[in-house]
This record gives sequence, C-alpha cells and structure tokens, in this order.
Amino acid sequence: MNFFNDLADFSAAEIRELILLAGRLDKHPEPRALEGKVLALLFLSPSLRTLISFQSAMARLGGSTFVVSPEMSIHGLESRSGIVMDGIAAEHIREAVPVIASYGDAIGIRAFAKRENLEDDLADREFHELTSLVDTPYINMESAINHPCQSLADWKTLDDLNVPAKGGKLVLSWSWHPSPMPLAVPAATLHMAALRGMDVTVLRPEGYALPDALMEKAQQAAAASGGSVTQTDDRASAMQDCQVIYASSWASPQHYGDRKAEDKIKPDMPTWCVDEPWFANASSGCYFMHCLPARRGVSVSDDILDGARSVVVAEAHSRMLVQMALLYQMLSKR
Ligand code: CP
Repeated sequence: MNFFNDLADFSAAEIRELILLAGRLDKHPEPRALEGKVLALLFLSPSLRTLISFQSAMARLGGSTFVVSPEMSIHGLESRSGIVMDGIAAEHIREAVPVIASYGDAIGIRAFAKRENLEDDLADREFHELTSLVDTPYINMESAINHPCQSLADWKTLDDLNVPAKGGKLVLSWSWHPSPMPLAVPAATLHMAALRGMDVTVLRPEGYALPDALMEKAQQAAAASGGSVTQTDDRASAMQDCQVIYASSWASPQHYGDRKAEDKIKPDMPTWCVDEPWFANASSGCYFMHCLPARRGVSVSDDILDGARSVVVAEAHSRMLVQMALLYQMLSKR
C-alpha cells in the first residue's frame, strides 16, 4: 500500500481484511514488526486523538515517530504559491514537506479545510498539492474532504458492536457548533456507512444539505454494497428504527465561506443539540457516535455522552488499532 487517502480507493473486502488484521494485532501483538521504521507526522491542523493514536500504534509495532507542526520551534511555514516571502514565514512547504518526508519511511499529513471555496475543498486541492511533494507512502490524517482513518475506525467499531452491515440503519445528523466546521468527517462517514452496506439517512436543517458530489459518491458505494443513502430535515422519520446516530457539525454548503450569511440561516442551538428525546422512535439500544472532540451541551447533551448509548471512547480506541493494521500493511514488507 503506497497511500491511504480515501476508503473509496479500496473494496469493501479489502477494508474488512484491514479490520481483521487490526483485530489480530490487538490479540496477538507484534512488537518488532516495524522495528527501525520511522513515521513522520505533519500536523498543519490541531489534534489530540490522531496524533497520539498514530504515535501509540507505531510504538506498539516497534517503530518510532516524529511530529512537526507550525506551533513548534520551526521557521514560519508559508503555503501560498507564487508569494514573495518578505513576511514572517521563512520557509515554504514546497521545500519543508519533501524534507520532512525524506526523514521517514512514510508520512501522515493533516491539513483541515480552509473553508473559503467549496469547489477547492471538495476537490481536496491543498492535500493533493501537499502529497505531490512527497515520494514516500502517505496517510491522510484528515484533509479538507476526507478522514479515512476515522472512518476505518468507525467501521471496526460498528462491527465490534454487531451493528448489521446490510439492513443496519445509520443516521448521520448535523449537530450544532459555534463555527462552520469542515465537511471531512460527514463526507467520510457517509461514504463509509454506504460502502459497509448500511441504510444511511443524512439528517440536517435547511441550508445544510450535503453537496451533490458527496451524495452521488455515497450512492454509488451504496449501489455496489446493497445499502441506500438519502437526506432529509424530518427528524422523526429519519430516527424511526435508527440503530446508530452519528453526530457531526459542518458548514452550510449553501453559504460556504460566508459566515455572516450562514449565521442568518443557522437554527437555534438547543434544537440541534442531540439529546434523549431524539431517540423516542429509534431502535432500542440505538448507539451515539461522534469522532470527537464533541462540545457538551452544544452538539450533544451530557446525558447522551455519559450514558449507555455513547460509544465515542470505543471509536477513539479503534483509531489506534486500525492504524496499526494500516502501518503494518504499508511498512512491514518495505
Ligand atoms: N477524531 C479526531 O480526528 O480527533 P483529533 O482531531 O483529536 O485528532
């Protein structure tokens, strides 16, 4: 495997193999499998789980990591093309990224969406520019439009919870957040659940419909796997018999890059903070998923996060396990 950028680059069978490998490495550790291998971790955006789950995964396989982020004691990083660098930044990513990559056997890169231009973010332009600068294997640790490691972990978590693939009903719900958030997690989750064969409903307020390109990509995955994908603003019908609600916040695609316009259509916070009444007609034992970090009392209530429905910690733990499998496949035979 030379890169891990999008679950869409893999068949459902290949993803299931990775998840099986994650389970095997969990039960039967191989602490020398990646001895001598180095993973470079470039964080152009913040993280808790992604950073330490990759460090832990690599350490458990006998390898090591180093981390670079703009907050560290490095020369300021410039990313704009064609810029005259007479400001604070003393180093351009065009040199910095290949240098960083050259010190590792593989590189993980995180660069959140700029959220200025929807077409640029849907095309993942910045991430493709970054990866075009490296000739080592690379891993998408969340780009403008994808978070494949999160989705791989979420697939494993659904398997571990025995949530059916075919016939399993997952609601991907918009939830409140003070800022316009990236489309990466909803896009990746929608596609993952569709590829897994689930019946997926995107529940969102008016003005927050996911872009056609994301819906069409997920519909193609669903058609191949026997699942289905729809979207609605009708919570009662969406939640009917739902087995999993996956909450996420995203910027209004209708007013992308225009916060003032978005603020005018944004619903009131309490109406889109996930809480127990949402589950009135859901399947009994319906799970609550979220990639974290989650804002308590804003995106989801304390009762839900602290209650039996929540599997958010299990999702985060799965990150480490599936990334072990990913690194093993990418690096053990190199
Ligand atoms: N879910 C996730 O990617 O968490 P971090 O942003 O903390 O890495």
